Amino acid sequence: MNFNLTEEHIMIRDAARDFAKTELLPGVIERDENQAFPTEQIKKLGELGFMGMMVDPKYGGAGMDTISYVLAMEELSKVDASASVVVSVNNSLVCWGLEKYGTEEQKQKYLVPLAKGEIIGAFCLSEPEAGSDATSQQTTAVDMGDHYLLNGTKNWITNGNTASVYLVIAQTNPEKGHRGINALIVEKGMPGFEVGLKENKLGIRGSDTHSLLFNDVKVPKENRIGEDGFGFKFAMSTLSGGRIGIAAQALGIASGAYELSLEYSKQRKAFGKAISEHQAVAFKLADMATEIEAARLLCLKSAWLKDNKMNFDKESAMAKVFASEVAMKTTTEAVQIHGGYGFVKEYHVERLMRDAKITQIYEGTSEIQRIVISRSVLK
Ligand code: CAA
Repeated sequence: MNFNLTEEHIMIRDAARDFAKTELLPGVIERDENQAFPTEQIKKLGELGFMGMMVDPKYGGAGMDTISYVLAMEELSKVDASASVVVSVNNSLVCWGLEKYGTEEQKQKYLVPLAKGEIIGAFCLSEPEAGSDATSQQTTAVDMGDHYLLNGTKNWITNGNTASVYLVIAQTNPEKGHRGINALIVEKGMPGFEVGLKENKLGIRGSDTHSLLFNDVKVPKENRIGEDGFGFKFAMSTLSGGRIGIAAQALGIASGAYELSLEYSKQRKAFGKAISEHQAVAFKLADMATEIEAARLLCLKSAWLKDNKMNFDKESAMAKVFASEVAMKTTTEAVQIHGGYGFVKEYHVERLMRDAKITQIYEGTSEIQRIVISRSVLK
């Protein structure tokens, strides 16, 4: 067993760290406050290869492994989780799904510009009545011969307005249950497709989360991903990899809050010494460091399994549930260590605490991860 990172891994991690410091940190508080999408920053991330990290260079990607993706996600998320969720959805849920299951024509038309970061993608599964219970899709894709007629509403869609390409999960044959579901590639601008309300969120406020409305949208048959009825498995398989990205995002939020707390506690004095010298604070820092390291190992293990073509469904769920709980706990403790300063925006930890919460909700709640894990250990 070798825990060392390769030179290439270190280079990618350092490049992401540097980008986060120089490009994401300035303005992160204002973007959060104003719910402003990091347009320029995402464009630059695309130019640097971070929007299609794992995609084969022949499709415009950077050809990196999942370990590199975890390292980059951690660094970007330490500073700006709103930007990192855009990176995560584009990489894991859109590019990966298209590269693995798309046709050559779909890859040339959609994957290439997505992987190059020229356009952004969205993954559309959740509905007003179907978030966790993903088989209960009310959005319908009726087979009309050469096209599907798409009708319904999607909710809480990351990149809802900024995306140009949407992977939409919809029910074609309700009597077949999950085997009647399809995944369709929908383009912005297709007649009948409308972007709905923008959500005013607790955290990741710089990312744009919208409802989407489909009213008799004609989607050509060639835009279906996989065989007829493959949509649910497409969604599950894609989300399984996506959970590695969100686990790494949670890890980054936690390690960002920890690093700020470490620095602050060495400078801030109380009762005649730095607060880090008080055991009450030192023990909090010790717990943070330990739990973050455990979360990092789970993230890297699931990435390693994926890179080595082994099953990672259980491990990505473990990484996500654990890292997101560490993120919530660490950021809450970070606010506590900062005291009154932690409760105001300039010190960043209150934002990290708000951002941490979504990692326990999206791409499957903590309860869903426990379903996946328990089914695996009990079978
Ligand atoms: N890969 C491939 N196939 C899979 C799979 C996987 N990881 N997991 C399940 N399947 C297959 C099963 O083998 C089964 O197929 P067969 O019947 O042919 O054997 C089929 O899918 C149905 O599986 P289940 O019986 O396990 O399905 P279920 O209804 O019991 O649901 C669940 C399982 C785990 C609860 C699932 O519904 C789930 O993961 N729900 C959460 C969905 C989710 O993550 N939503 C978040 C929205 S997306 C988002 O947040 C994106 C964003 O914007 C950031």
